[in-house]
Amino acid sequence: MIIVVCLYTGLLLASLVFAEAGAAKLAAERCSACHNTARICEKLGQRSAEVWQQTVQRMVSNGAKLSEGEARTVADHLGRAKAGAKPLCQ
Ligand code: HEC
Repeated sequence: MIIVVCLYTGLLLASLVFAEAGAAKLAAERCSACHNTARICEKLGQRSAEVWQQTVQRMVSNGAKLSEGEARTVADHLGRAKAGAKPLCQ
């Protein structure tokens, strides 16, 4: 039983890490089409997830190519990301 619980917890953690890495990659790819990501990095760690949702929605209106789900994923990620987070920031 304990092995099952450990395995499950491990898989859950691994999938969270992959999801976070995927969101970071998505942001790095889609958010650098018009301006470089330094523009985002200046603000990382200063905005709540809610404000990032608004920012990302505004970028979609500006022409960013993100589905509704991708926009939410990216905004959630930016809300959690710390200043200087890779691969977004150099
Ligand atoms: C289609 C072009 C385009 C894409 C793609 C794009 N942006 Fe922007 N971005 C802009 C323009 C134009 C501005 C300046 C006007 C404004 O702020 O809306 C801007 C400004 C910004 C700013 C500075 C203004 C502020 O709110 O602090 C941030 C941060 C930002 N973008 C984040 C992002 C993020 C995150 C993504 C990816 C989800 C992204 N951008 C993708 C066009 C784009």
